Amino acid sequence: MNNIDKIRSEIESFQVDNAETLEQFRLRFLSKKSEIQSLFGEIKNIAQENRKEFGQLVNDLRDMAQENYNRFKAAVEAVSGNNTTEIPDITRPAARLNVGSMHPISIMMNEVRQIFEEIGFSAVEGPDIEDDWHVFTALNFAEEHPARDMQDTFFIKLRPDVLLRTHTSSLQVRTMETQKPPIRVICPGRVFRNEAITSRAHCIFHQVEGLYIAENVSFADMKQTLLYFAQRMFGDDVRIRLRPSYFPFTEPSAEMDISCNICGGAGCNLCKHTGWVEILGCGMVDPNVLENCGIDSGKYSGFAFGLGIERMTMLKYRTNDIRLYFENDVRFLQQFKAATK
Ligand code: DAH
Repeated sequence: MNNIDKIRSEIESFQVDNAETLEQFRLRFLSKKSEIQSLFGEIKNIAQENRKEFGQLVNDLRDMAQENYNRFKAAVEAVSGNNTTEIPDITRPAARLNVGSMHPISIMMNEVRQIFEEIGFSAVEGPDIEDDWHVFTALNFAEEHPARDMQDTFFIKLRPDVLLRTHTSSLQVRTMETQKPPIRVICPGRVFRNEAITSRAHCIFHQVEGLYIAENVSFADMKQTLLYFAQRMFGDDVRIRLRPSYFPFTEPSAEMDISCNICGGAGCNLCKHTGWVEILGCGMVDPNVLENCGIDSGKYSGFAFGLGIERMTMLKYRTNDIRLYFENDVRFLQQFKAATK
């Protein structure tokens, strides 16, 4: 009787959690050589009057073992998904999910945006199809300025004063017409020029315009802002150089070069062996432009700049042909997966 109790509690506490322990359970409690079977062999040694009761207890014990076994077996089979013990190959690669990448021009635009947004500039956008006032006249372009020439500007045939913007400086005008100083904006956008397409020039490209108008803004403020930008974009070792230049809408005007990040300034094909590459035009906003846009030039001053995105992208990713950005060849675009955020 003690044996029966002992085996019952063993059955109750036996843990089965896989095919192997299930088999151990079977051998221990249900096989021909199990203790329960040997108890059946004991029946003949039991006193006649107790034999029936003892036989019943051993029977119950065997039934209980069998029931537990059936339950365990079903559970193990449910976990392995079938009634074999085969394990699926968990090292097999998953089906490939073909995700796209961001276009390098968008990556660069976002990076420029982020750098300026962190120092208080906010981004504004405007129309690609513009009028003469916003692209030229308000920006102090003289009536006979060559930039208005048919060779540079795409005009919309129906209306002589409607055209595709040749620069994002048009957004300076739109911003000053609608906001009061202090103004701190950057304006990313696509621009169009009627130019022959080569490895260095395209009829469509992208610019980011910057504009800062407040009281007492100086050329030194502009220089420091642009140096900060260049270092954030190209690393702390980059140097900048401002060369005197001319734009109708700024006075004084400058073009900014950065030390060539391909040869480190030593001289290479990209920088035409000068060690410097031009990335933007800039200057102090001409008082005429402020007045054209309804801003008191006696009280306010400001600086503006226009960055060429393709040029910067070519520098940063070391590509040598601007046409690659417009061909949508996935073999080229896929290479920007790692830079896609
Ligand atoms: N709009 C000029 C261009 O397309 C670039 C530029 C130069 C923008 C000087 C500016 C600036 O805001 O101040 O070549």
